[in-house]
Amino acid sequence: MKKTVRAHTNIALIKYWGKADAKLRLPLMSSLSMTLNAFYTDTSISKAIDKDIFYLNKKRQTAQQSRRVLNYLSLLKQKFDINDHLIVESINHVPTAAGLASSSSAFAALAAAFCKYYDINANPTELSRLARIGSGSASRSIFGGFAIWQKGNSDESSYAYPLDEHPQMDLRLLAIELNTQQKKISSTRGMQDAQSSPFFKPWLKRNEFELNQMINAIKNNDFTTLGELAELNANEMHAINLTAQPEFTYFEPETIRAIKLVEQLRQEGIECYYTIDAGPNLKVLSQLRNVKDIIQRFSSEFNNVKIVNASFGPGITYLD
Ligand code: ADP
Ligand code: DP6
Ligand code: CO
Repeated sequence: MKKTVRAHTNIALIKYWGKADAKLRLPLMSSLSMTLNAFYTDTSISKAIDKDIFYLNKKRQTAQQSRRVLNYLSLLKQKFDINDHLIVESINHVPTAAGLASSSSAFAALAAAFCKYYDINANPTELSRLARIGSGSASRSIFGGFAIWQKGNSDESSYAYPLDEHPQMDLRLLAIELNTQQKKISSTRGMQDAQSSPFFKPWLKRNEFELNQMINAIKNNDFTTLGELAELNANEMHAINLTAQPEFTYFEPETIRAIKLVEQLRQEGIECYYTIDAGPNLKVLSQLRNVKDIIQRFSSEFNNVKIVNASFGPGITYLD
């Protein structure tokens, strides 16, 4: 028997970037995301003979490459009093560890596949809490559309819920894949180091205000406010990295070039904004009427760049 679950990635418009509890992955702030239709992970669980095994994109992973996944699997087994050995087979339809949120779809799919395999009747809230322990952002990928991860202050109270699973908003996300190599600083490491910035606490203080503003922008179908706020929030996060001690950044020269192009397009009256996660790639927020122009401009200014045109995606789906 094998059980397979598909989960889509999500991109935060209000970012999670800091933990109150590293083991339980309790965040220091609440976050808000959009789940994407264009990027996803399919993960299967089946029985193994004598040890846990992890395949990613059909390749057997070494002990080191499997460590995070298999530690998480052990934790799930312990939680539900299961002693089997398991095979995890996962296919990423998203670049792995490149700041395009592979961990969000990966751990949402894995948590749900595990529960399905063992007939564990977890409701969406419980699934979100389980996925959260694998990767914080995965808590939001249980749901489609817009999701909010309320920070809470315990394993029970920290989970995501849908704000609107089927948004009617005219909102596109163009992923500009400038560099899809595996990043050197994982998100887990980056957000830990970021806390040494003198701006970390002031940023944290703004979280509730920014989250509420974002919720209002979505409710009012106000693309301009959504875009401006998402861009500000992302830049705040990257400013914190630049002012951490020691400082670091996920930006590359191409990232800055892409930021400048978004500014230029805006000056020309093509409304668009950017958000950037823990990697060098830009996600351009725009509306349907401008998508063609934006793709054309990025294609002509960046040789051979891959651009993925995404919109809202669904929550987890059971494939068999
Ligand atoms: P990203 O920006 O892609 O989310 P992270 O640093 O947050 O990058 O997480 C990347 C890590 O997530 C990988 O190194 C790997 O441990 C884990 N991961 C990614 N894809 C999968 C998958 N399909 N199954 C299990 N674990 C995965
Ligand atoms: C910048 O969820 O990948 O994408 O919980 O340590 O696995 P871990 O981190 P992860 O961090 C995501 C950071 C972000 C912002 C966000 O998705 O909210
Ligand atoms: Co991640």
